[in-house]
Amino acid sequence: MEILKLLQERHTTKKYDASRKISDADFDLLLESLRLAPSSVNSQPWEFFIADTKEAKEKLLPAIADFNHSRVTDSDRLIGCAIHTDLDETYMQDLDDQEETDGRYQDPAYKVDNGQRRRFFVGKYRDAGEIACWAGKQAYIAQGFLLYTAAALGIHSTPIEGWDADKVDEILGLREKGMHAQYAVALGYGAADDHNAARPKSRWPAQRIFHKL
Ligand SMILES: Cc1cc2nc3c(=O)[nH]c(=O)nc-3n(C[C@H](O)[C@H](O)[C@H](O)COP(=O)(O)O)c2cc1C
Repeated sequence: MEILKLLQERHTTKKYDASRKISDADFDLLLESLRLAPSSVNSQPWEFFIADTKEAKEKLLPAIADFNHSRVTDSDRLIGCAIHTDLDETYMQDLDDQEETDGRYQDPAYKVDNGQRRRFFVGKYRDAGEIACWAGKQAYIAQGFLLYTAAALGIHSTPIEGWDADKVDEILGLREKGMHAQYAVALGYGAADDHNAARPKSRWPAQRIFHKL
C-alpha cells in the first residue's frame, strides 16, 4: 500500500516554494538513485550535470523553454542528463575494468565473455546508426529511478524535456565530449498554491493497456 500511495501521490510540480531547500543527505540519495539505475548490458551511457546555485541555473536558462523558467529558478536544484553518443572501444574497456574492480569477475574468462556480449549489442546499434537513440532510452530509466526516489523522500520534482537540447550541448560543450543533452529534472518543494499538486491523476484505464496473452 505504501508503494501504491507513493505512485498515486507523486506528481509533476509546476510551482516551487523557493525558500525550501533539499538537505545534502537527501540530495546524495537522489544522486545515488541515478548511479544505481540499471541499463542494458550495464552500459551506463550517462553523465549528470548539477545546477545547485543561482549562477549555475542561470547558465542553463537560455536553453530552457519559457514555460519552465520558474520551475528552474524556484526549485532548489536541477539535474541535467546527457548521454555518450558513441560508446567507443575506450569506453567499453573502461566498463569491463570497472566491473572487474567492483568484483564482478571471479573467473577471468567471464570478463572476456561478458565484454564480447556487450560489444555485440553496442556494435549492432552502431551499425544501425542508433547508438544515441539506444543510449537515450537507458537515460530515461535513470530518470524514473530519480523521480521515484524523490517521491519516497517527500521531495517534489519536475521532469523537463521542455529545453533546447542542442543549446544545452552548446552551453556545456557537450558535443566536443561526444555527448548530447537529454532532459533535466528540477527538484525541491512545491509551493502551497502549486495547481498540479491537488489535481487528480489522469491515466489510461488498466483494461486499455494491459493484455493477458
Ligand atoms: C520525459 C518527460 C518530460 C516532461 N517535460 C515536462 C516539461 O518540460 N515541463 C513540465 O512542466 N512537465 C513536463 N513533464 C511532465 C508531464 O507532463 C507529466 O509527467 C504528465 O502530464 C503526467 O503527470 P504527473 O507527472 O503529474 O503524474 C514531463 C514528463 C516526462 C516524463
